[in-house]
Amino acid sequence: MSSGQNNTFEPITLIEPFVEKKGGLMPALHTLQEHFGYISKECIAQLATAFNYSQAEIIDVITFYDDFRTKPIGKNIIRICLAEACQSQNCKKLLKDISSQLNLTLDETNHDSGITLKEVFCLGNCAIGPSVMINETVIGEATTEKIINHIEKDGG
Ligand code: FES
Repeated sequence: MSSGQNNTFEPITLIEPFVEKKGGLMPALHTLQEHFGYISKECIAQLATAFNYSQAEIIDVITFYDDFRTKPIGKNIIRICLAEACQSQNCKKLLKDISSQLNLTLDETNHDSGITLKEVFCLGNCAIGPSVMINETVIGEATTEKIINHIEKDGG
């Protein structure tokens, strides 16, 4: 996954190759997100026109899939597991602590620190929860300190 955020092309230029293809909406969405880092209102409007859907229908598709975003995200994405096994290992306290430490709530991005905080439901690391995923790295027995250290080590 790339956070792209490159504005070289107009959305319609990126959408056009998929318009006549069966099932072309999904690759068009992925291409837009790869290029811009998220799917903006302008992209949604151009997708709706190109694929002959309403904007509400495009938004329904985007919100159905967790990987699509309609807002820019930070360079570092922290995903905290809030599924059952991690709940039994205090993930809610961890969420509260990290939220307070970073001054962020779930689904928010702090553009100064470049950090986005998100929830996730099971990272397959249940035995050593609470688990978090920072970008592509899964961390077990997560603490606020471990999370901050990891981000600082990776250059924040
Ligand atoms: S429940 Fe958190 S990693 Fe599985």
